Amino acid sequence: MATKILLFFITLVVLFIITTQQNFPTSYRLERAFPVKHPIPISELIERDTFRHRRLLQQSGVVDFPLEGDSDPYHIGLYYTKVQLGTPPRDYHVQIDTGSNVLWVNCKSCNGCPTSIRQHIPVEFYDSSSSSTSSLITCSDSLCSQASQWSECSKSKCTFRFQYGDGSGNSGYYVSDLMHLNTMGVDSGSSNSSAKVVFGCSTSETGNIRTDGVNGIFGFSQHSMSVISQLSSQGVAPDSFSHCLVGSGNGGGILVFGQIMDPNMAYTPLVQSRPHFSVNLQSISVKGQTLSIDPSTFSIPGNQEGTIIDSGTTLAYLPQDALTLLKDAISQAVSQSAQPVISREDGCYIFTSSVSSIFPLVSLNFQGGSSMHIRPQDYLLQDNSKGGAEVWCFGFRSYLTPGPTVLGDLVLKDKIIVYDLGGQRLGWSDYNCSSSVNVSSTSSRGRGGSSTSFPMLILASILQYAFNI
Ligand SMILES: *[C@@H]1O[C@H](CO)[C@@H](O)[C@H](O)[C@H]1NC(C)=O
Ligand SMILES: *[C@@H]1O[C@H](CO)[C@@H](O)[C@H](O)[C@H]1NC(C)=O
Ligand SMILES: *[C@@H]1O[C@H](CO)[C@@H](O)[C@H](O)[C@H]1NC(C)=O
Repeated sequence: MATKILLFFITLVVLFIITTQQNFPTSYRLERAFPVKHPIPISELIERDTFRHRRLLQQSGVVDFPLEGDSDPYHIGLYYTKVQLGTPPRDYHVQIDTGSNVLWVNCKSCNGCPTSIRQHIPVEFYDSSSSSTSSLITCSDSLCSQASQWSECSKSKCTFRFQYGDGSGNSGYYVSDLMHLNTMGVDSGSSNSSAKVVFGCSTSETGNIRTDGVNGIFGFSQHSMSVISQLSSQGVAPDSFSHCLVGSGNGGGILVFGQIMDPNMAYTPLVQSRPHFSVNLQSISVKGQTLSIDPSTFSIPGNQEGTIIDSGTTLAYLPQDALTLLKDAISQAVSQSAQPVISREDGCYIFTSSVSSIFPLVSLNFQGGSSMHIRPQDYLLQDNSKGGAEVWCFGFRSYLTPGPTVLGDLVLKDKIIVYDLGGQRLGWSDYNCSSSVNVSSTSSRGRGGSSTSFPMLILASILQYAFNI
């Protein structure tokens, strides 16, 4: 009997190991392109965001809005991480971009690629001839036709060409190679796995494409060419990913394939068929009082874009009318304790108490009735402090011409953000992103169909139980 029980548990353990081996959540440490406590003037942050939004929207052919200035080297992504590709594996530092579709890295003999790189990031060019697992994607490959929007055939190679709003662009061809997945989960069981992914090998860059400082871009969209879609359709990763961005110190954070778990997660549906991760923002409340904003103003007139969730944007952007109402309500709430700073740009305050004791809680209310509660430090940016007084300025901004409503890093930090592609919803929960996280690799593939669950914590306790026997 005891032997039978033991056998049963061993079988269970083996089964779990087999089913979860390839499904351990993969995690990536994120680094911020510039520290949170940056000495960068707000006007430069806005310029950087404007450039990004123009690029985001032009890429999807949504809208054109004017751009001025163009001088900052960190225009595309705010976060970067390291991925390992090929056999033997080599490291590539890539910008994380939830606004683009594919993973691409600069390749050997690239024409016009940056040869100098930021401080501690080494220049690395992918070389298919020095990876034993590299293969070319041919025109007959099904992934080539899925990418047909930007691909064409050239001497039987499946090539790509990306063109950005400012006239810059890059081109190259698709290859397939092993991506090494740094797996997390049960401490002792941490293992390395790898999976074949198709990615772009960039052989030419024109104009100021602004990948200076990194080796490529890691796109995280819902398109079938994105790595997350490829891995989830292979059954290697769940069809979801999450991040937790640290709001203090040097920033940084964690990005995982899978859902970071928290009992207080709130969800709202993703807007369907959008190129970006968009949700429906319906109202804004200050101290529980809902402002009288027409919900339709949160969308660009004529398109149902919704509110874009974008970790690559530094600040947050609202339509002009909504922003005015929000600022008025906040300035009324703090009129007794904080002085507007007249000499500066609009929206700065000077005060001597702590920011969280004076400024009210703001709630962003989404479709489905869930709210994201944002603290003063999620809508204000500290500008400086002198002689016991602090100056904080509004980090919520608007464009002069109608632009997208975008929630960037300012709002998304210190929260778990879950992009549940299978469930077509976005989840969030306040969280200390410096502490450890629990991750579920539950997959809801099939968009509403049956869900497969690989509970890692159960795996851990079963292992322990088996050894105790
Ligand atoms: C996983 O792979 C990396 C790089 O190839 C290596 O440094 C690390 O030691 C490996 N970890 C395990 C648990 O095998
Ligand atoms: C967040 O977690 C880290 C690591 O566990 C801890 O050192 C830090 O004090 C925590 N911060 C807050 C605000 O609780
Ligand atoms: C993770 O899961 C364990 C076991 O369920 C629980 O005790 C722990 O509090 C969880 N940690 C977090 C950060 O949610």
